[in-house]
Amino acid sequence: MPRKTVPEIKAGKNKEPLAVLTCHTAPMAKILDKHVDILLVGDSLGMVVYGMESTLPVTLDIMINHGRAVVKASSNALVVVDMPFGSYQSSRKTAFENAARIMAATGCQAVKLEGGLEMRETVRHLVKGGIPVMGHIGLMPQHVNTVGGYKFRGRTAEEREKLKSDALALEQAGAFSIVIEAVAETAAREITEALKIPTIGIGASAKCDGQVLVVDDMLGLSPGAPKFVKKFGRLAEEIEKAAVSYARAVKSRQFPGKDNLY
Ligand code: KIV
Repeated sequence: MPRKTVPEIKAGKNKEPLAVLTCHTAPMAKILDKHVDILLVGDSLGMVVYGMESTLPVTLDIMINHGRAVVKASSNALVVVDMPFGSYQSSRKTAFENAARIMAATGCQAVKLEGGLEMRETVRHLVKGGIPVMGHIGLMPQHVNTVGGYKFRGRTAEEREKLKSDALALEQAGAFSIVIEAVAETAAREITEALKIPTIGIGASAKCDGQVLVVDDMLGLSPGAPKFVKKFGRLAEEIEKAAVSYARAVKSRQFPGKDNLY
């Protein structure tokens, strides 16, 4: 089966919801690839893989290394790589050069960047140059310092209007889909109804055209995951149990056994 394409995802509006998960490593890509429509190499890897305080220290090289691993280990899902903080905000030219580097070095099919109206011309420039762009509005982790924390959006009518104009601006600029993160349900629903391109919700609305979660959160690997995360697994407990039995087996000389030796 050939890999999913951007036009196929874009045509996914009002159809079966799109299943999207973040993915940062080759072994994880091999497991997830068959089961999801999009593998998102999100800059959340700064926090869930590298233990950083925020996504801000994530570099282009880090994103490229992980993006390349995920593309190489997958063949079904569309792979989208996040543009890290500082790699696209200063000018359209810089954004294009960095997005092109990500595409060429990883083989991914699209990039994602955070921002609404203020990113309209950047998105237009990238799309015109052949780089498919997924937008990201609502809670934007790269804006943690300007907003003063990881706060949900769409509390007031003014905020909801702003979110809608951000989404429409991205659609007009040529984005093929938009992640809506931690937004009041009514706002996410209205935006989904107003757009022709698919919305991918995370803590947004069941009416979005798709859903995304950070894979480490949904597997139960991250301590203190946000309210919108549903744990579909309890891997932290499983790993700890395995580590305890391994250490016991080593210390009691039950491991290695005959079968584990040459
Ligand atoms: O970086 C990331 O993992 C993301 C998702 C939360 C959508 O942007």
